Amino acid sequence: MPVRAVSRGELAPGILRGGLALVALLTMAAGDASNGRAIIANRQLSACLLCHTGPFPDPHLQGNLAPSLAGAGSRLTEAALRQRLIAPDPDSIMPSYAATAGLHRVGKQWAGKPVLTPQQIDDVVAFLVTLRAP
Ligand code: HEC
Repeated sequence: MPVRAVSRGELAPGILRGGLALVALLTMAAGDASNGRAIIANRQLSACLLCHTGPFPDPHLQGNLAPSLAGAGSRLTEAALRQRLIAPDPDSIMPSYAATAGLHRVGKQWAGKPVLTPQQIDDVVAFLVTLRAP
């Protein structure tokens, strides 16, 4: 069977059908850290700062339900950070940003589609790895 290179755009939909483990393996590409920072800071898009604090403006508008994201890149590997976003502990209040099934109490606006695209997840991970402990 001939082998040809495929772009990530071609791969992504098939990967999503194929399962989250494959997403985790195959989207290990460099993301855009500055876009990742913007995604986290955008409460409407990601809601990260409803629960987390971190090195962002307006600390009084950040949540205290979850550990600070400051230093997350020193505490967790890139793979572990990605895992948190794709498949958090099912007992955690932290939502999956990739899953579309097996979820509980999904808001109407998120039903049937992932909260973030694979590229956006790459970008968020690329930013989180830069958050080093002082
Ligand atoms: C509804 C609340 C909630 C939202 C929204 C949320 N998280 Fe979390 N997150 C948590 C909680 C609680 C934990 C603590 C561990 C656990 O419960 O899994 C956590 C853990 C983490 C960790 C591991 C921190 C550590 O030091 O161990 C990372 C990294 C993380 N979240 C990133 C994010 C990012 C990035 C977003 C947005 C894309 C986000 N979280 C959105 C609640 C949330």
